[in-house]
Amino acid sequence: MRAKLERDFDRFKRDLPRDFPAHVRETYRIDLRARYLGEVLPHPIGKASGQLSLNAGQLEDDAAAGLAFAVLKTLIAEDETGARTMGAWAIHESKMKVERRPTDAGRPGWTVTWKGRGWDRPLGDYLALVRAGRDLTRAGRLLVVPSVKYHLPRLAEPFREAEYRYTTAQLADAWREPPLLVEKDFSPTLAGDALADDRAQILRWLEEVPRQIRAASPMPVRVAVKLMNARFDDRFQVEMMDGCRGANALVVFNRLFDPKRGVAYGGWDLSDRNLRVLKGMAPGVSPELTGTGNICSGRMILAYARRGCESVQVHTFFQLPLSEYPATHGTRPQRALHALVFHPQDGLIAGMLDLEAQGELVRQGGDLRFLDLGAHAHRAG
Ligand SMILES: Cc1cc2nc3c(=O)[nH]c(=O)nc-3n(C[C@H](O)[C@H](O)[C@H](O)COP(=O)(O)O)c2cc1C
Repeated sequence: MRAKLERDFDRFKRDLPRDFPAHVRETYRIDLRARYLGEVLPHPIGKASGQLSLNAGQLEDDAAAGLAFAVLKTLIAEDETGARTMGAWAIHESKMKVERRPTDAGRPGWTVTWKGRGWDRPLGDYLALVRAGRDLTRAGRLLVVPSVKYHLPRLAEPFREAEYRYTTAQLADAWREPPLLVEKDFSPTLAGDALADDRAQILRWLEEVPRQIRAASPMPVRVAVKLMNARFDDRFQVEMMDGCRGANALVVFNRLFDPKRGVAYGGWDLSDRNLRVLKGMAPGVSPELTGTGNICSGRMILAYARRGCESVQVHTFFQLPLSEYPATHGTRPQRALHALVFHPQDGLIAGMLDLEAQGELVRQGGDLRFLDLGAHAHRAG
Protein backbone atom coordinates (compact mmCIF):
# COMPACT_ATOMS: atom_id res chain seq x y z
CA MET A 1 0.00 0.00 0.00
CA ARG A 2 2.75 2.45 1.01
CA ALA A 3 4.76 1.75 -2.15
CA LYS A 4 1.63 2.27 -4.26
CA LEU A 5 0.98 5.54 -2.47
CA GLU A 6 4.51 6.81 -3.20
CA ARG A 7 4.01 5.87 -6.83
CA ASP A 8 0.61 7.55 -7.12
CA PHE A 9 1.88 10.66 -5.38
CA ASP A 10 4.69 10.93 -7.92
CA ARG A 11 2.72 10.26 -11.07
CA PHE A 12 -0.25 12.43 -10.08
CA LYS A 13 2.08 15.44 -9.67
CA ARG A 14 1.61 15.97 -13.38
CA ASP A 15 -2.02 15.04 -13.72
CA LEU A 16 -4.54 14.19 -11.02
CA PRO A 17 -7.33 11.94 -12.39
CA ARG A 18 -10.64 13.72 -11.93
CA ASP A 19 -12.25 10.58 -10.58
CA PHE A 20 -9.54 9.97 -8.01
CA PRO A 21 -12.09 8.69 -5.42
CA ALA A 22 -12.78 5.65 -7.64
CA HIS A 23 -9.04 5.05 -7.96
CA VAL A 24 -8.63 5.28 -4.18
CA ARG A 25 -11.48 2.86 -3.64
CA GLU A 26 -10.01 0.32 -6.03
CA THR A 27 -6.37 0.64 -5.10
CA TYR A 28 -6.50 1.10 -1.34
CA ARG A 29 -10.02 -0.11 -0.54
CA ILE A 30 -10.66 3.27 1.02
CA ASP A 31 -14.13 4.74 0.69
CA LEU A 32 -13.77 8.52 0.81
CA ARG A 33 -17.49 9.23 0.65
CA ALA A 34 -18.50 12.18 2.81
CA ARG A 35 -21.52 14.39 3.47
CA TYR A 36 -22.52 18.03 3.30
CA LEU A 37 -26.01 19.29 4.08
CA GLY A 38 -27.43 15.82 3.72
CA GLU A 39 -25.91 15.30 0.26
CA VAL A 40 -23.53 12.38 -0.22
CA LEU A 41 -20.21 13.51 -1.69
CA PRO A 42 -17.52 11.42 -3.43
CA HIS A 43 -14.93 12.75 -0.94
CA PRO A 44 -14.83 15.33 1.87
CA ILE A 45 -12.96 18.27 0.30
CA GLY A 46 -14.86 21.37 -0.78
CA LYS A 47 -14.21 25.03 -1.29
CA ALA A 48 -15.25 27.47 1.44
CA SER A 49 -17.20 30.62 0.67
CA GLY A 50 -15.07 33.61 -0.34
CA GLN A 51 -13.00 35.21 -3.05
CA LEU A 52 -12.45 31.90 -4.84
CA SER A 53 -16.11 31.35 -5.70
CA LEU A 54 -17.06 34.66 -7.31
CA ASN A 55 -17.53 33.60 -10.91
CA ALA A 56 -18.49 30.71 -13.19
CA GLY A 57 -14.89 30.25 -14.38
CA GLN A 58 -13.74 29.42 -10.86
CA LEU A 59 -16.59 26.92 -10.47
CA GLU A 60 -15.72 25.31 -13.78
CA ASP A 61 -12.09 24.85 -12.64
CA ASP A 62 -13.30 23.36 -9.36
CA ALA A 63 -15.52 20.88 -11.20
CA ALA A 64 -12.69 19.97 -13.59
CA ALA A 65 -10.30 19.44 -10.68
CA GLY A 66 -12.79 17.15 -8.92
CA LEU A 67 -13.64 19.18 -5.82
CA ALA A 68 -16.65 17.70 -4.04
CA PHE A 69 -18.49 21.00 -3.53
CA ALA A 70 -18.10 24.76 -3.56
CA VAL A 71 -19.87 27.37 -1.44
CA LEU A 72 -20.43 30.65 -3.24
CA LYS A 73 -19.28 34.02 -1.93
CA THR A 74 -21.65 35.43 0.74
CA LEU A 75 -24.50 37.51 -0.64
CA ILE A 76 -25.89 40.34 1.51
CA ALA A 77 -29.68 39.91 1.72
CA GLU A 78 -32.03 42.60 0.45
CA ASP A 79 -35.78 43.25 0.32
CA GLU A 80 -37.83 43.95 -2.82
CA THR A 81 -36.85 47.66 -2.73
CA GLY A 82 -33.14 46.74 -2.65
CA ALA A 83 -32.75 47.81 1.01
CA ARG A 84 -30.08 45.90 2.92
CA THR A 85 -29.79 46.22 6.70
CA MET A 86 -26.44 44.42 6.56
CA GLY A 87 -25.25 46.75 3.78
CA ALA A 88 -22.09 47.55 5.74
CA TRP A 89 -20.93 44.07 4.68
CA ALA A 90 -21.34 44.71 0.95
CA ILE A 91 -18.16 46.73 0.53
CA HIS A 92 -15.76 46.44 -2.38
CA GLU A 93 -12.16 45.39 -1.82
CA SER A 94 -10.11 43.38 -4.24
CA LYS A 95 -6.61 43.18 -2.79
CA MET A 96 -5.75 40.03 -0.86
CA LYS A 97 -2.41 39.24 0.70
CA VAL A 98 -1.33 35.67 1.35
CA GLU A 99 0.94 35.89 4.39
CA ARG A 100 2.72 33.65 6.82
CA ARG A 101 1.10 33.85 10.24
CA PRO A 102 3.02 32.08 13.00
CA THR A 103 1.38 31.30 16.34
CA ASP A 104 2.64 33.03 19.51
CA ALA A 105 4.84 29.98 20.03
CA GLY A 106 6.34 30.47 16.56
CA ARG A 107 4.67 27.64 14.63
CA PRO A 108 4.57 28.75 10.97
CA GLY A 109 1.25 28.83 9.13
CA TRP A 110 -0.63 30.74 6.44
CA THR A 111 -3.35 33.33 6.46
CA VAL A 112 -4.98 35.55 3.86
CA THR A 113 -5.30 39.20 4.84
CA TRP A 114 -8.17 40.98 3.23
CA LYS A 115 -10.32 43.93 4.27
CA GLY A 116 -13.37 43.11 2.17
CA ARG A 117 -16.61 41.55 3.32
CA GLY A 118 -19.58 40.23 1.29
CA TRP A 119 -20.73 40.15 -2.37
CA ASP A 120 -20.43 43.71 -3.67
CA ARG A 121 -22.23 43.45 -7.04
CA PRO A 122 -25.96 43.47 -7.89
CA LEU A 123 -28.23 40.61 -6.80
CA GLY A 124 -28.90 39.78 -10.46
CA ASP A 125 -25.22 38.92 -11.00
CA TYR A 126 -25.31 36.62 -7.98
CA LEU A 127 -28.40 34.85 -9.31
CA ALA A 128 -26.63 34.24 -12.61
CA LEU A 129 -23.81 32.59 -10.63
CA VAL A 130 -26.36 30.49 -8.73
CA ARG A 131 -27.80 29.30 -12.06
CA ALA A 132 -24.32 28.34 -13.29
CA GLY A 133 -23.86 26.45 -10.01
CA ARG A 134 -27.23 24.77 -10.40
CA ASP A 135 -26.25 23.47 -13.85
CA LEU A 136 -23.00 22.00 -12.51
CA THR A 137 -24.89 20.44 -9.60
CA ARG A 138 -27.57 18.91 -11.88
CA ALA A 139 -24.85 17.54 -14.16
CA GLY A 140 -23.32 15.78 -11.12
CA ARG A 141 -20.03 17.65 -11.63
CA LEU A 142 -19.89 19.84 -8.51
CA LEU A 143 -22.35 20.51 -5.69
CA VAL A 144 -22.71 24.29 -5.48
CA VAL A 145 -24.31 26.04 -2.49
CA PRO A 146 -25.11 29.75 -2.11
CA SER A 147 -24.23 31.65 1.07
CA VAL A 148 -26.16 34.59 2.53
CA LYS A 149 -25.80 37.12 5.30
CA TYR A 150 -29.35 38.02 6.39
CA HIS A 151 -30.54 40.71 8.77
CA LEU A 152 -29.48 40.22 12.40
CA PRO A 153 -31.47 42.45 14.74
CA ARG A 154 -30.63 43.78 18.17
CA LEU A 155 -32.45 42.03 21.01
CA ALA A 156 -35.39 44.40 21.19
CA GLU A 157 -35.88 44.54 17.40
CA PRO A 158 -37.84 42.19 15.13
CA PHE A 159 -36.22 40.34 12.21
CA ARG A 160 -36.68 42.09 8.87
CA GLU A 161 -38.68 39.28 7.37
CA ALA A 162 -38.95 41.07 4.03
CA GLU A 163 -35.19 40.63 3.47
CA TYR A 164 -35.38 36.95 4.34
CA ARG A 165 -38.42 36.46 2.11
CA TYR A 166 -37.25 38.35 -0.94
CA THR A 167 -33.69 37.06 -1.06
CA THR A 168 -34.60 33.44 -0.33
CA ALA A 169 -37.36 33.50 -2.94
CA GLN A 170 -34.93 34.84 -5.53
CA LEU A 171 -32.44 32.07 -4.74
CA ALA A 172 -35.18 29.43 -4.86
CA ASP A 173 -36.36 30.77 -8.21
CA ALA A 174 -32.83 30.53 -9.61
CA TRP A 175 -32.32 27.05 -8.17
CA ARG A 176 -35.74 25.84 -9.44
CA GLU A 177 -35.89 22.30 -8.00
CA PRO A 178 -36.13 21.48 -4.29
CA PRO A 179 -34.44 21.23 -1.97
CA LEU A 180 -32.72 24.60 -1.80
CA LEU A 181 -29.44 24.41 0.11
CA VAL A 182 -28.25 27.60 1.81
CA GLU A 183 -25.36 28.48 4.04
CA LYS A 184 -25.86 31.39 6.46
CA ASP A 185 -22.64 33.19 7.28
CA PHE A 186 -21.76 34.58 10.71
CA SER A 187 -18.48 36.25 9.81
CA PRO A 188 -15.38 37.24 11.78
CA THR A 189 -16.04 40.92 11.09
CA LEU A 190 -19.47 40.40 12.65
CA ALA A 191 -17.77 38.75 15.63
CA GLY A 192 -15.62 41.88 15.89
CA ASP A 193 -18.62 44.23 15.55
CA ALA A 194 -20.46 45.89 18.45
CA LEU A 195 -23.56 43.92 17.32
CA ALA A 196 -21.90 40.78 18.67
CA ASP A 197 -21.04 42.16 22.13
CA ASP A 198 -24.11 40.60 23.69
CA ARG A 199 -24.30 36.85 24.25
CA ALA A 200 -28.08 36.73 24.58
CA GLN A 201 -28.38 38.55 21.26
CA ILE A 202 -26.12 36.01 19.52
CA LEU A 203 -28.04 33.06 20.99
CA ARG A 204 -31.31 34.55 19.81
CA TRP A 205 -29.93 34.84 16.25
CA LEU A 206 -28.81 31.22 16.26
CA GLU A 207 -32.16 29.99 17.46
CA GLU A 208 -34.21 32.18 15.16
CA VAL A 209 -32.26 32.40 11.89
CA PRO A 210 -32.84 28.82 10.63
CA ARG A 211 -36.55 29.26 11.39
CA GLN A 212 -36.66 32.59 9.57
CA ILE A 213 -35.03 31.08 6.48
CA ARG A 214 -37.41 28.11 6.49
CA ALA A 215 -40.44 30.37 6.87
CA ALA A 216 -39.16 32.58 4.05
CA SER A 217 -38.46 29.84 1.52
CA PRO A 218 -41.09 28.96 -1.07
CA MET A 219 -39.59 25.47 -1.37
CA PRO A 220 -38.13 22.95 1.13
CA VAL A 221 -34.75 24.25 2.28
CA ARG A 222 -31.76 22.84 4.14
CA VAL A 223 -29.81 25.36 6.17
CA ALA A 224 -26.15 25.27 7.17
CA VAL A 225 -25.11 27.87 9.71
CA LYS A 226 -21.49 28.94 9.53
CA LEU A 227 -20.69 29.86 13.09
CA MET A 228 -18.32 32.68 13.89
CA ASN A 229 -15.59 32.42 16.46
CA ALA A 230 -17.23 34.76 18.97
CA ARG A 231 -15.05 36.90 21.22
CA PHE A 232 -15.98 34.83 24.24
CA ASP A 233 -14.58 31.66 25.78
CA ASP A 234 -14.75 28.08 24.53
CA ARG A 235 -17.78 27.36 26.68
CA PHE A 236 -19.80 29.99 24.90
CA GLN A 237 -18.66 28.55 21.56
CA VAL A 238 -20.23 25.21 22.58
CA GLU A 239 -23.31 27.04 23.80
CA MET A 240 -23.65 28.59 20.35
CA MET A 241 -23.56 25.13 18.76
CA ASP A 242 -26.12 23.88 21.24
CA GLY A 243 -28.35 26.84 20.56
CA CYS A 244 -28.41 26.27 16.82
CA ARG A 245 -30.29 22.99 16.67
CA GLY A 246 -32.71 24.25 14.06
CA ALA A 247 -29.96 24.11 11.44
CA ASN A 248 -29.40 21.03 9.28
CA ALA A 249 -25.64 21.52 9.46
CA LEU A 250 -23.06 23.67 11.23
CA VAL A 251 -19.88 24.93 9.59
CA VAL A 252 -17.28 25.06 12.38
CA PHE A 253 -15.89 27.75 12.71
CA ASN A 254 -15.19 30.90 10.68
CA ARG A 255 -11.92 32.80 11.08
CA LEU A 256 -10.68 34.61 14.17
CA PHE A 257 -10.81 38.39 14.43
CA ASP A 258 -7.73 40.45 15.24
CA PRO A 259 -9.10 43.63 16.85
CA LYS A 260 -5.71 45.40 16.77
CA ARG A 261 -5.31 45.11 13.01
CA GLY A 262 -9.06 45.04 12.38
CA VAL A 263 -8.77 41.93 10.17
CA ALA A 264 -9.82 38.30 10.16
CA TYR A 265 -7.10 35.66 10.28
CA GLY A 266 -6.49 31.93 10.23
CA GLY A 267 -3.52 29.59 10.58
CA TRP A 268 -2.80 27.30 13.52
CA ASP A 269 -4.47 29.56 16.08
CA LEU A 270 -7.70 28.98 14.19
CA SER A 271 -7.45 25.20 13.89
CA ASP A 272 -6.26 24.88 17.52
CA ARG A 273 -9.28 26.79 18.75
CA ASN A 274 -11.73 25.01 16.46
CA LEU A 275 -10.51 21.52 17.32
CA ARG A 276 -10.37 22.31 21.03
CA VAL A 277 -14.00 23.45 21.04
CA LEU A 278 -15.15 20.44 19.01
CA LYS A 279 -13.35 18.10 21.38
CA GLY A 280 -15.14 19.66 24.33
CA MET A 281 -18.58 18.91 22.95
CA ALA A 282 -20.76 16.27 24.48
CA PRO A 283 -21.61 13.31 22.18
CA GLY A 284 -24.94 13.16 20.44
CA VAL A 285 -25.86 16.83 20.56
CA SER A 286 -25.04 18.35 17.22
CA PRO A 287 -26.53 18.43 13.73
CA GLU A 288 -24.22 17.47 10.86
CA LEU A 289 -20.81 19.19 11.08
CA THR A 290 -18.52 20.53 8.38
CA GLY A 291 -15.04 21.71 9.36
CA THR A 292 -13.23 24.83 8.23
CA GLY A 293 -10.00 26.47 9.32
CA ASN A 294 -6.35 25.86 8.45
CA ILE A 295 -7.00 22.70 6.49
CA CYS A 296 -3.61 22.39 4.82
CA SER A 297 -3.06 18.62 4.99
CA GLY A 298 -4.92 15.33 4.97
CA ARG A 299 -3.93 14.93 8.62
CA MET A 300 -5.82 18.11 9.44
CA ILE A 301 -8.88 16.77 7.58
CA LEU A 302 -8.67 13.69 9.79
CA ALA A 303 -8.42 15.81 12.94
CA TYR A 304 -11.70 17.53 12.04
CA ALA A 305 -13.29 14.25 10.94
CA ARG A 306 -12.46 12.52 14.21
CA ARG A 307 -14.26 15.34 16.00
CA GLY A 308 -17.40 14.71 14.00
CA CYS A 309 -16.97 16.69 10.74
CA GLU A 310 -18.33 14.83 7.73
CA SER A 311 -16.68 17.13 5.16
CA VAL A 312 -14.32 20.12 5.12
CA GLN A 313 -14.26 23.58 3.53
CA VAL A 314 -10.90 24.97 2.42
CA HIS A 315 -9.96 28.52 1.43
CA THR A 316 -6.37 29.50 2.30
CA PHE A 317 -4.79 26.27 1.04
CA PHE A 318 -6.12 27.06 -2.45
CA GLN A 319 -4.20 30.35 -2.43
CA LEU A 320 -0.62 29.41 -1.62
CA PRO A 321 2.34 30.27 -3.86
CA LEU A 322 2.69 27.50 -6.47
CA SER A 323 6.07 26.52 -5.02
CA GLU A 324 4.27 25.32 -1.85
CA TYR A 325 2.47 22.48 -3.64
CA PRO A 326 4.30 19.23 -4.45
CA ALA A 327 2.43 18.95 -7.80
CA THR A 328 4.21 20.40 -10.82
CA HIS A 329 1.19 20.86 -13.10
CA GLY A 330 -2.47 21.75 -12.82
CA THR A 331 -4.72 24.40 -11.34
CA ARG A 332 -4.50 25.26 -7.63
CA PRO A 333 -7.56 23.14 -6.78
CA GLN A 334 -5.90 20.16 -8.52
CA ARG A 335 -2.58 20.71 -6.81
CA ALA A 336 -4.27 21.14 -3.45
CA LEU A 337 -6.29 17.94 -3.85
CA HIS A 338 -3.16 16.06 -4.87
CA ALA A 339 -1.35 17.08 -1.66
CA LEU A 340 -4.37 16.69 0.64
CA VAL A 341 -5.21 13.18 -0.57
CA PHE A 342 -2.00 11.56 -1.83
CA HIS A 343 0.87 13.02 0.22
CA PRO A 344 2.70 9.89 1.45
CA GLN A 345 3.16 11.22 5.00
CA ASP A 346 0.52 13.90 5.58
CA GLY A 347 -2.21 12.94 3.11
CA LEU A 348 -5.66 11.55 3.79
CA ILE A 349 -4.82 8.05 2.54
CA ALA A 350 -1.59 7.84 4.57
CA GLY A 351 -3.44 9.06 7.65
CA MET A 352 -6.29 6.56 7.28
CA LEU A 353 -3.82 3.68 6.78
CA ASP A 354 -2.01 4.80 9.96
CA LEU A 355 -5.26 4.84 11.91
CA GLU A 356 -5.95 1.32 10.69
CA ALA A 357 -2.48 0.19 11.77
CA GLN A 358 -3.14 1.69 15.22
CA GLY A 359 -6.43 -0.17 15.47
CA GLU A 360 -8.41 3.08 15.52
CA LEU A 361 -10.19 2.56 12.23
CA VAL A 362 -11.53 -0.84 11.24
CA ARG A 363 -12.37 -2.08 7.75
CA GLN A 364 -16.05 -2.71 7.09
CA GLY A 365 -16.66 -5.29 4.38
CA GLY A 366 -13.02 -4.81 3.37
CA ASP A 367 -13.14 -1.00 3.15
CA LEU A 368 -11.84 1.78 5.35
CA ARG A 369 -14.56 4.42 5.36
CA PHE A 370 -14.07 8.15 5.85
CA LEU A 371 -17.53 8.49 7.36
CA ASP A 372 -16.64 5.97 10.09
CA LEU A 373 -14.04 8.37 11.49
CA GLY A 374 -16.54 10.49 13.36
CA ALA A 375 -18.81 7.64 14.36
CA HIS A 376 -18.14 8.22 18.04
CA ALA A 377 -18.30 11.99 17.89
CA HIS A 378 -21.21 14.31 18.45
CA ARG A 379 -23.87 13.42 15.91
CA ALA A 380 -27.27 12.92 17.38
CA GLY A 381 -28.40 9.33 16.75
C1 LIG B 1 -10.28 36.34 1.50
C2 LIG B 1 -11.32 35.57 2.24
C3 LIG B 1 -12.67 35.86 2.04
C4 LIG B 1 -13.65 35.14 2.72
N1 LIG B 1 -14.97 35.44 2.50
C5 LIG B 1 -15.92 34.70 3.12
C6 LIG B 1 -17.30 34.92 2.84
O1 LIG B 1 -17.68 35.79 2.05
N2 LIG B 1 -18.21 34.14 3.48
C7 LIG B 1 -17.85 33.16 4.36
O2 LIG B 1 -18.71 32.46 4.89
N3 LIG B 1 -16.54 32.92 4.63
C8 LIG B 1 -15.58 33.67 4.03
N4 LIG B 1 -14.26 33.41 4.30
C9 LIG B 1 -13.90 32.35 5.26
C10 LIG B 1 -13.57 31.05 4.52
O3 LIG B 1 -14.70 30.57 3.86
C11 LIG B 1 -13.03 29.95 5.46
O4 LIG B 1 -14.09 29.43 6.23
C12 LIG B 1 -11.94 30.43 6.39
O5 LIG B 1 -11.00 31.23 5.69
C13 LIG B 1 -11.21 29.27 7.09
O6 LIG B 1 -10.64 28.41 6.14
P1 LIG B 1 -9.09 28.51 5.70
O7 LIG B 1 -8.26 28.45 6.96
O8 LIG B 1 -8.89 27.33 4.80
O9 LIG B 1 -8.90 29.80 4.99
C14 LIG B 1 -13.27 34.13 3.62
C15 LIG B 1 -11.91 33.83 3.81
C16 LIG B 1 -10.94 34.54 3.14
C17 LIG B 1 -9.50 34.18 3.37
